[in-house]
Amino acid sequence: MEKENKIIIAIDGFSSTGKSTIAKHLASELNYLYVDTGAMYRAVTYFAMQQNFINQSNFDKEALVTSLKNISLQFVYNSELRFSEMHLNNVNVEREIRSLEVSNFVSRVSEVSAVRRKLVEQQQQMGREKGLVMDGRDIGTVVFPKAELKLFMTASPEKRAARRYKELLDKGHKVHYQEVLENVEQRDLIDSTREDSPLKKADDAIEFDNSDMGLKEQFERVYNLALHRISKA
Ligand code: DC
Repeated sequence: MEKENKIIIAIDGFSSTGKSTIAKHLASELNYLYVDTGAMYRAVTYFAMQQNFINQSNFDKEALVTSLKNISLQFVYNSELRFSEMHLNNVNVEREIRSLEVSNFVSRVSEVSAVRRKLVEQQQQMGREKGLVMDGRDIGTVVFPKAELKLFMTASPEKRAARRYKELLDKGHKVHYQEVLENVEQRDLIDSTREDSPLKKADDAIEFDNSDMGLKEQFERVYNLALHRISKA
């Protein structure tokens, strides 16, 4: 029997553009592995907070870089939730890494080149067998520049903040819309202007502005694109 062609699908874009919803759904329909790279940067940030390497007034980058060897990250599949949860040094930190506090520090931690090198290497390992949907900021540009399908998602900051705000409330986090909007805008700025691997659309990525596009329509378009690329692989 002919071996099934598997591809790599890279989904990049600003925070809260619904990348992960699309990526998860796509991976499940194609029976591919889904990797949320933002969760990895969030887990390193949470580690830095626990060690007090980062707080409101200080960020000891050197201490974090020296301690990178003590960080082990793993996605562990939760069959009840049908979702892979982030484990940091064998502890499930899925809930902690989604807090606004982590969101407030994560862009600064992701600026550190040594952090990026460690995580990019781990991400590339996950794609060795292809059959992967990965979302993040630099997947199509740095992690898998040869990915067979690259998508770049955008939406207005207000729409994205409203989505994030609802998500946080649903999960029981106590937040105000205005602080969520400020966080979204602040992260956009840091993510797209940092020196190492800034967020930018790869030349060959297909752009989706989903400010006014429903999930179903969006998914159908993405799914058809993926099937087309798989048939050509
Ligand atoms: O996707 P997210 O909002 O959970 O990502 C959290 C942060 O991690 C984001 O502000 C920037 C950083 N990040 C990154 O620098 N590179 C990636 N590939 C993924 C996320």
